[in-house]
Amino acid sequence: MGESINSESVEKSSASHPHPDVTGRYYIPGFPIGEGKTDYEKYLRTPELLSLQKTPSETVSPDELLFQVTHQASELWMKLMLKELKALVKAMNEDKLWVALRSLRLVHDCQRLLIQQVDLIGSHISIVEYGKIRVVLGQGSGMESPGFNWLLEMAPILGEAFHQLLTRRQMTIRQIYTDYQDHMELHTLAEALMDFDDLFHKWRAHHLALVARTIGTESHSLKGLATQVLQKGVKTRFFPELLEIRSTLTNESGLAYGGQPLPN
Ligand code: HEM
Repeated sequence: MGESINSESVEKSSASHPHPDVTGRYYIPGFPIGEGKTDYEKYLRTPELLSLQKTPSETVSPDELLFQVTHQASELWMKLMLKELKALVKAMNEDKLWVALRSLRLVHDCQRLLIQQVDLIGSHISIVEYGKIRVVLGQGSGMESPGFNWLLEMAPILGEAFHQLLTRRQMTIRQIYTDYQDHMELHTLAEALMDFDDLFHKWRAHHLALVARTIGTESHSLKGLATQVLQKGVKTRFFPELLEIRSTLTNESGLAYGGQPLPN
């Protein structure tokens, strides 16, 4: 997490490029940071990146590359999300709501990509091939995903920063929904947090559908009956008060047209 160009590589590279190279190009200190034939390869460290997947002779299944790439790419997008979520908390703490919203927009788009990736693997992985991959995963479980666990840790921190913001502004959630036109900044931020919660919930629902079509609903995993474990997660919401306000306001307005509770 939080990788930076280390001082050793900066020193080495600035020392090796004090002058323009043979092509006449100048390199700023810190470049290149990796090995490779071209600047593209050196900057993006593609030789290392592309060696992080099993070779064809090492794979146990033709679908194993699909499995590895989907998971590795997801971890990278979650790494970016974590960075943006930290920026979001900082911006909320500093009352910079448009800065906060800018970070959240990027986070939402990363979440949409993550949803597409579970859909993609679900539509393409063969259930027989997954059976072969499963046995080489060791005790590995998606629940150990570092990216996913960072996101779970960030959610209460976001909720707390939002509550502190409301307290500083002497506002309640109810006010920013009922009088939303007067509190558009806070209202928009609350809705963007709702989107984050919703998209996380949708990822879990799509992943559950993927698991159901890949290993079935009655199979056992390391953590118990797979779909039961995952269903519990699907029911979890990060900001329940943002959902509750909808029920509260709907029920209040429903009373006006004589809504009746269902008989037991
Ligand atoms: C063939 C594809 C997949 C299968 C069969 C599968 C299966 C499962 C199962 C059975 C679980 C429940 C926990 C356990 O028993 O280990 C789980 C959890 C999880 N998997 Fe997957 N998975 C797949 C793809 C993915 C992908 C592409 C990701 C992307 C990062 C992912 C991330 C996770 C995460 C984060 C959890 C924990 C979810 C939660 O706590 O709500 N999985 N997976």
